[in-house]
Amino acid sequence: MQGKPPGWPGISWIEGRTLLQIPNVKGQAEWRVGPGNKNDSPVFHNVAMANNRTRSVLLLGLAIRNKWLLNEGKLRVLDGLAASSLRSRRWLNELPPELAEQLDIISVDRDEESISWALANHEKHPPNNSNPEQLSIQKGDLRQIVYSGGWQWIDIDPYGSPIPFLDSAMQNLARKAILQVSATDTAALCGTYPQVTRRRYAAYAVNDTVTHDTAMRILLGNIALCAAKHERSIEPLMSVFDGHHTRVSVLVTPGKKNASNVYENLGWRVNEPDKKTIDASIKAGLHSFGCAKTPQPRVLLPYNSPPESLANGKVSGPLWIGPLARKDVLEQLTEEYALEICGISKEKDEYIISLAGWKDEDIEKSNRGIIRSIKRLHESKDAVGTNGLVTMDELPQWIDIGGPPSPKKLVVALKEQGFKASISVISTPAVQTNAQWDELIKIVKTII
Ligand SMILES: C[S@@+](CC[C@H](N)C(=O)[O-])C[C@H]1O[C@@H](n2cnc3c(N)ncnc32)[C@H](O)[C@@H]1O
Repeated sequence: MQGKPPGWPGISWIEGRTLLQIPNVKGQAEWRVGPGNKNDSPVFHNVAMANNRTRSVLLLGLAIRNKWLLNEGKLRVLDGLAASSLRSRRWLNELPPELAEQLDIISVDRDEESISWALANHEKHPPNNSNPEQLSIQKGDLRQIVYSGGWQWIDIDPYGSPIPFLDSAMQNLARKAILQVSATDTAALCGTYPQVTRRRYAAYAVNDTVTHDTAMRILLGNIALCAAKHERSIEPLMSVFDGHHTRVSVLVTPGKKNASNVYENLGWRVNEPDKKTIDASIKAGLHSFGCAKTPQPRVLLPYNSPPESLANGKVSGPLWIGPLARKDVLEQLTEEYALEICGISKEKDEYIISLAGWKDEDIEKSNRGIIRSIKRLHESKDAVGTNGLVTMDELPQWIDIGGPPSPKKLVVALKEQGFKASISVISTPAVQTNAQWDELIKIVKTII
């Protein structure tokens, strides 16, 4: 390595079970929940994205353990917009040796200073569980480096929208691959700036109470269409809307037939639908709430039966109308698994804890964050693929009740009556279920 970056070694911080040096800039090595400002530091390290990286470590571990991508041989992985390369370093350092040894990673950033911090970190704190040579840190443009092709795993974690990187990444995936995509341009995905939503995502988005669900679905819809153009199809493995960003992880497989069927998983979300629209949704098998004659907040419609008017402020789409996750993935994202892989322990990690000067409360905070990163996702396994989504705050507008019910109580009550139900992964308190609307009303009234 050619010298150390200005400000090296900065300060020490721990994320998951990985030690890193970061520039000594306010807001860098401290607990924070809000978004980071890209101009705050010479290398972008956003503490608020720790959960995003933790989920990435956990999903990669599951992919290797379950042989989702390869039966044997090494996984070719691209950490495409790597900044400090912390994500790659966490993959190699936190996955157990028998999983980590199957990784062959290139981590890329076009920013010189980020690369020098990444290299210096990798040299000073090489991974415990693997050979440091399994990670090559390179300065360059993701859109060029990706063209060497054959990637089983690509991570796209941009400032703002992933759209500029999607097509080149899609073209260069191996036959079976996982694509992890973050988007922080949530104002566009949530329809705050309708013109930007139209221009960037070719979609309408209503900025309503389920806008976070809409955002994940618009992003997935764009990825599905991009895949189809390259004769591939996607299967969402997990999707989250977490604070200031959304993140989806999809399995991508080749095949013209499935690619041509892409429109089966695309459609529209219509707010305050009339009877005819509810009926169309029921007939398409997209509305388990049923009850066409009763007014309801929203329905999904198939792509081929668009609503009569698109620009009336009630329609979102085209968007993904299939499941947002795969049940077996969510089932395996348990608290025990998360702590086994990414949890820090006073005994086993004594050395790095002393280097970072962490106290018991920091250790507890870190482990609580690890659990939080998967808790909702794991719980949502019970209602994966259901299409009834309702927020607690909107229920009093539709049902004669004094105030919003508790989502926890509602989920328990729905399950007791034999329905699938879970708290939704969106930040607004909401429930995902397959219960019919009239049954839901009855059950809400029993818990209020
Ligand atoms: C949000 S940060 C990435 C954060 C990182 N993935 C993490 O988990 O900490 C986005 C990074 O993308 C880099 N970048 C932007 N455009 C790029 C391009 N075309 N090719 C490679 N890197 C790029 C920026 O320099 C920046 O470091």
